[in-house]
Amino acid sequence: MLSTRGAAWAKVGFLHGKQNAYHPIQNPNGVIALNNAENGFLHADLANFFNKHNHFEDNCCAYGEGYTGTLRLRTAMSNHLNSHFQPVWPIDPEDITFTAGVTDLNEVCALVTCNPETDAIMLGGPVYGTFSKDLALRTGIKLEWVPVGTDQFTPDCVATFDAGFEDAKARGVNIRALIICNPHNPLGRCYPPETLRALLQFCASKGIHLISDEIYALTTYPRDDQPSEKFTSIRAIDYSDIIGPTQVHVLYGMSKDYGAAGLRLGCLVSQNREFRNAVRAICRFSSPSQFSMDLAAKFLEDQNFVKQLLDKSHRVLFKIRLLAEKLLDEAGLRYEKKGNAGLFMWLDLSPQLPLSEADGDGWAAEKLLSERFTRAGVKVDPGAEYQSPEPGRFRLMFCVEEDTLREGLRRIATALKAE
Ligand SMILES: Cc1ncc(COP(=O)(O)O)c(C=O)c1O
Repeated sequence: MLSTRGAAWAKVGFLHGKQNAYHPIQNPNGVIALNNAENGFLHADLANFFNKHNHFEDNCCAYGEGYTGTLRLRTAMSNHLNSHFQPVWPIDPEDITFTAGVTDLNEVCALVTCNPETDAIMLGGPVYGTFSKDLALRTGIKLEWVPVGTDQFTPDCVATFDAGFEDAKARGVNIRALIICNPHNPLGRCYPPETLRALLQFCASKGIHLISDEIYALTTYPRDDQPSEKFTSIRAIDYSDIIGPTQVHVLYGMSKDYGAAGLRLGCLVSQNREFRNAVRAICRFSSPSQFSMDLAAKFLEDQNFVKQLLDKSHRVLFKIRLLAEKLLDEAGLRYEKKGNAGLFMWLDLSPQLPLSEADGDGWAAEKLLSERFTRAGVKVDPGAEYQSPEPGRFRLMFCVEEDTLREGLRRIATALKAE
C-alpha cells in the first residue's frame, strides 16, 4: 500500500533500462527516438577529451568541498559564462550553485519560490513539456499556463501573460514566478532583448521572480539561408532600472550545449543570497558527483576545446536541420520555418489529424496520431505534452544520424498515410 502521492507517481513512468533503440544494421526494427533532446554528434569528441584529461584524483573519492559545486568548477563556469553570455554584471563563482541537472533545479526553484496549494509558477505554452513534472510532481505547487503560442517572441506576449496573471489572481492563485526557456524549447527561437526587457518589466510590476532556463544558450547555430537569431542571456540586459537583481535567476547546465547529459550537472546563477542559501540547503539531496564536477571543470577550463566542440555542434546542427526541412517538404508536412536554436523543430500536423476518427476532437485526434507513430516505431512528442494552445503540433528532435532521420521521417510519413 503506497501513500496517495506514491500511488500517483507509480503511474508516471520514465526512461528506465535498456531501450529497444534503432540501429540501421544491428537493430533495424528498433524504435527511432526523435523525442530525446541530446546532441549525440558531440559524444565521441567529448569522450575522447575526457579520456585524455581524466585522472581520477583522490578528492573524487571524498565528500570534498560539499554538495553544491566545487570552487574550481564554479570558477570555470563563471569564467565561461562571463565570456559567452556577456553579462552586464560579471558572474561571480559565489553566484553559482551546482546540482545534478537543471531538471532538479527547476523543482528546487518551485520549492523555494512557492508555497504548496496556493502558489503557482506561470509559463507560456507551448513550452518544454517536462516542466510540468519537474515543477509540480513532488512540490504540490500549481502551474499557470498561458497560451502565448508560436509567436511569443515579441513584447506583445506580455499582454497575454498579464491577462493570465490577473485571471489566476481572480481565482485566488498567487503567482510567484515566471519561467521562460531561452532559447526556446520546442520552438528553437531566441527572445530578442526588447522582449526580455518587457518580460522583466512585467515581473517587476507583479513583484514576481523571473527564472530563465538558458540550457540551450550555445546551441544556437547560424543559418546562411535565412536571418539568424542571436541568443541574449537575461543577464546581458541592463535591468538596473527595471527590476531588483534578487528577482532574476538563470539556469544553465552541461546537458545540451556540450552533449554531456550523462555528467548530470546543472547550475543556478543568482545574485539573491537568500535564494541561493535556500537552494543550497536542499540541493544536498541531489548533489553531483565529485568525478563529474572534476571532468566538467577540466572541460570548461579548456576554452579552445570548448570552441572547437561548439563550432562542430553548430555545423552539424545546421546541416541536419536543412536535411530535416528538405525531407519534411518532400513529404508535404508543415513546420515552423523560423528558428536556429535547439535540437528540434515544431511540426504542424493539424492538416493530417484523423478528426473523423475522433468525433472532431482535435486533442483526441492528436493522441491517435501519436499512438500511430509509436506503432510505426518512431517517437515524437505530441504538442499536448508541451501545452500547445492548438492540437496537431509535434516536436521533432532532428539531431540524429542522417540515416536515422530519413528512416524516422519515412515511418512518420507511412503512419500518416496508413489506417
Ligand atoms: C528546457 C530544458 N530544461 C532542462 C532540461 C533538463 O536538463 P538536465 O539534463 O540538466 O536535467 C531540458 C532537457 O530536455 C530542457 O529541455
